[in-house]
Amino acid sequence: MTLSPRDNAPTGAIPLIPRDGDDATTREVPEERVVATLPTPAEDPHWYRTAVFYEVLTHSFFDANNDGTGDFKGLTEKLDYLAWLGIDAIWIPPFYPSPMGDGGYDISDYTNVDPRYGTMDDFRTLMEEAHKRHIRVVIDMVMNHTSCAHPWFQASRHDPAGPYADFYVWRDRPAEYLDARIIFIDTEDSNWTYDEVRGQYFWHRFFSHQPDLNFENPAVREAIKNTIRFWADTGVDGFRLDAIPYLYEEDGTNCENLPRTHDFIAELRDMVDEEYPGTVLIAEANQPPHEVVAYFGSDSRPECHVCFHFPIMPKIFAALREETSKGVREAFAATPPLPKGGQWGTFLRNHDELTLEMVTDEERQAMYGWYAPEPRMRANVGIRRRLAPLLRGSRREVELAHAMLLSFPGSPFLYYGDEIGMGDNIWLKDRDGVRTPMQWDSTPGAGFSKGNPNTFYLPLIEDGPYAPAAINVSEHRSRPTSMLNWLRGMLEVRKRYPVFGIGSLTLLSTSDDAVLAYLRRDERQTVLCVNNLSTTSRSATIQLPGMGGWRLYDTASGNRFPDVREDETIDITLGRHGFYWLEATFLNEEDEEE
Ligand code: BGC
Repeated sequence: MTLSPRDNAPTGAIPLIPRDGDDATTREVPEERVVATLPTPAEDPHWYRTAVFYEVLTHSFFDANNDGTGDFKGLTEKLDYLAWLGIDAIWIPPFYPSPMGDGGYDISDYTNVDPRYGTMDDFRTLMEEAHKRHIRVVIDMVMNHTSCAHPWFQASRHDPAGPYADFYVWRDRPAEYLDARIIFIDTEDSNWTYDEVRGQYFWHRFFSHQPDLNFENPAVREAIKNTIRFWADTGVDGFRLDAIPYLYEEDGTNCENLPRTHDFIAELRDMVDEEYPGTVLIAEANQPPHEVVAYFGSDSRPECHVCFHFPIMPKIFAALREETSKGVREAFAATPPLPKGGQWGTFLRNHDELTLEMVTDEERQAMYGWYAPEPRMRANVGIRRRLAPLLRGSRREVELAHAMLLSFPGSPFLYYGDEIGMGDNIWLKDRDGVRTPMQWDSTPGAGFSKGNPNTFYLPLIEDGPYAPAAINVSEHRSRPTSMLNWLRGMLEVRKRYPVFGIGSLTLLSTSDDAVLAYLRRDERQTVLCVNNLSTTSRSATIQLPGMGGWRLYDTASGNRFPDVREDETIDITLGRHGFYWLEATFLNEEDEEE
């Protein structure tokens, strides 16, 4: 693609240019930082290890001013709902000014909010109100690239001798870094795009309207640090670092996970530890586990607190179709141990396609066969569908998938709307089909907005079993047996068992491959988790080495199950797609007498 001169003319002042002597002390820091009623980082430095996160797109959640686009005021109004649901933190994807060529991941101003969502004051109010409800706030930091509408890029292309000349990666010929893969293979055929204004090619790992920043340039690194400081000053609790494997390039490599990329992340961690202690960094690095684990850094040089675990997610979906625990077991076997204080971020779905980059060709074909039989259901290397339709609307499958997500090692990230089993619209472009308005009730605007549905940023799911008339929060809340109430109950249980967040994982031998069993364990709690991956009921014998005589109690009801036999086994029977979370305790004879 060629970017023509009239695309995205420069606008306004250029924010955050680093100047000589510009450092944390010379920046303007707001007088009042948001006063949180939450425990301080010192009181609860590891909150992210037991937290359940909820990804919420501002424009999709609730439209308070009825203009058809969700906003901060709307999100603030719905915080009570999120507190009721029982989540601990929200992750808000980019809400900065953006031409919206990539759902906001194409940023044109790092230190502002898009007026469609409200004002900086609205954002501060959201923060305050969230904190009052003990909900932490994590925001997205997209530092690999900007939009081509960003004033930095406009200055860079128009003035090759000016201060922004080297803010991006420019070359006369597109001859370097040819070993780097193309990520958005549906739309891009090269990582280089010719710019007619500058008469040179610029480098981009994603869309050709998203030029990569040049991290070789110290001014870029400083500008990014200042951006992080700007948002940390508002009191946010953490940053999801978008697309971090691609910050640096080096010929002869695949330009991913380069040592200098790690150096820079470690530098950021140092900065937040010193200036904003307790602020959490979450790595989005869609890489195999041995590469991802490097983004935790080491004890002496830490990088991120949390890294998303990409490979485990497709294994959960595959397990439900193959009806065997083999793939999940293999994924855990390939997962390196976590360094101190580190945590995995786990998820079933998010705002992107269900990525299949971390599976073999054979596994990918199988996943397409099961979950994306129509080409329109696919996007790039993945599947653009929501959880409920993927799992053919099966309540049992959706519950089992959540039971695994919530009991596997890691902090789970839920995706807005999945708690009520919202559907998707595969006819919308790119990944928009999984980003449609939240369905609050069955009124014409689905309770998302009182505006005219024709003005909505994306259409509501129109008809069929997933339309707002059938699937909405209000209906789910009023029905005690709904998916929403079920999930809320599960989150309550999970809160009582911090071991799910911080405990170790021991996979157990079972007599039936379709039964996945494991222990989650720390000094205080032991929970036995058993999942039947099959569409038929199963009875299996589970080996529990060293646990002869232990008692088992259902974590939800408290009901006692048969003790572990002296031969260190139990027999367990599960209905199709059934599961148990059983607390295991050992009472010796002295305890009994007391
Ligand atoms: C985000 C995507 C986005 C891409 C480029 C990511 O990994 O999750 O939504 O398209 O980065 O910014």
